[in-house]
Amino acid sequence: MKILLLGSGGRENAIAWKIAQSPKVSALYVAPGNAGTAGMALGGNKNGKSENVALKADDFDGIKGFVLQNGIDMVVVGPEDPLVKGVYDYFKKDSQLAGIPVIGPSKAGAVLEGSKDFAKGFMQRHGIPTAAYRSFNGTNIEEGIAFLETLQPPYVLKADGLCAGKGVLIIPTLEEAKKEFRGMLDGMFGEASATVVIEEFLSGIECSVFVLTDGENYKILPEAKDYKRIGEGDTGLNTGGMGSVSPVPFADKEWMKKVEDRIVRPTIAGLKAEGIEYKGFIFLGLIKVDRDYAYAKAGDPVVIEYNVRMGDPETESVMLRIKSDLVDLLEGVAEGNLNTKTLEVDPRNVVCVMMVSGGYPQAYKKGFEISGIDKVEGSVVFHAGTALKDGKVVTAGGRVIAVSSYGSTKDEALKKSFTEAAKIQFEGKYFRRDIGSDL
Ligand code: AMP
Ligand code: GLY
Repeated sequence: MKILLLGSGGRENAIAWKIAQSPKVSALYVAPGNAGTAGMALGGNKNGKSENVALKADDFDGIKGFVLQNGIDMVVVGPEDPLVKGVYDYFKKDSQLAGIPVIGPSKAGAVLEGSKDFAKGFMQRHGIPTAAYRSFNGTNIEEGIAFLETLQPPYVLKADGLCAGKGVLIIPTLEEAKKEFRGMLDGMFGEASATVVIEEFLSGIECSVFVLTDGENYKILPEAKDYKRIGEGDTGLNTGGMGSVSPVPFADKEWMKKVEDRIVRPTIAGLKAEGIEYKGFIFLGLIKVDRDYAYAKAGDPVVIEYNVRMGDPETESVMLRIKSDLVDLLEGVAEGNLNTKTLEVDPRNVVCVMMVSGGYPQAYKKGFEISGIDKVEGSVVFHAGTALKDGKVVTAGGRVIAVSSYGSTKDEALKKSFTEAAKIQFEGKYFRRDIGSDL
């Protein structure tokens, strides 16, 4: 099989790593990819290596040309952007591409991530537990102000549309919340905040659960927890993610059964009932609430958000825990027989530590040479923001390289990731040393 993977981050390097191991894969291309996604050995082609393709993940016409020229059999989509822009539908509507499966939801399905207002409405329609909310736009600003006055602090304001992870504000005081609410409707996030969701604050601990579905059947992949703040002890500014762990101790059998019964099954059934085509990954951003709400008891799972892709840096842990052939599972998604496939999970603990550029998530410099990757032993290195320059691997983003390790315990996996991360050098390198230690 010849597979094209779209995207260029640590998540895509981890998906590519897993796909490359499959004995079914004779060619793997990553568009645009990074310094880690090229040159991987392929499980189904002794002489082959994965290759990067200089195409943007949302250049659909370019992708079409490449797919047809190279006889691609399957397209796997990493990030949300091409999905929200309709890459699934682009393939389906094109007579030359219609037979080539795209792993990812249709544009209608991607709205689960592309519009918070839609996602909240969907959950309400299907009885899926989520924070109480209302949506507002330029026509009912004063009602929004009045709604804020009925809530308890802190206040949660969400831009309806995609904001590269920046569209959620959690605000301690009512006065500030009113000001930010008006600011959002006034264009703080452009079109994305023309509609604003105001919702009840949920108190508890977060967990990311991943589901692979063919639209009818589903598999629940290993869950993970990510660490978003730059500083140890979850302090400082938000980042794209500083590390992840899998499994998550509180996501035990009983809790995961609640997730399946109350969230996964009604989500798949709801998509089907609304006629939304969905063949891909669903990322459930969940919170285990620590007190009672109208829609959940203390300890229960509640949905904070849907994403229509895998999480980053969760994927850099999750892929190490999937023992089965991922390509076999993806074929099940494409063919609508995921129920006939097996998902075997590695019981070991995995911890991913992300090394970032000095200054990140604020201003940082790029282009520093990275050394020592070849010294890493027994852990898996995933590139996030790297590039090749004159034959050398250099930093090319805020999040640079992830090191993921197995351990019989979480602490053992963490220690291993530190030991190996210490071998990789670049100017300004920083990473958190406390990933997973809150659990
Ligand atoms: P989202 O983009 O919806 O994932 O929101 C970003 C982050 O904001 C989440 O990962 C949570 O940490 C936090 N968050 C979002 N909604 C709520 C809520 N209703 N209560 C508490 N925290 C929230
Ligand atoms: N780790 C959170 C996300 O990928 O959105």
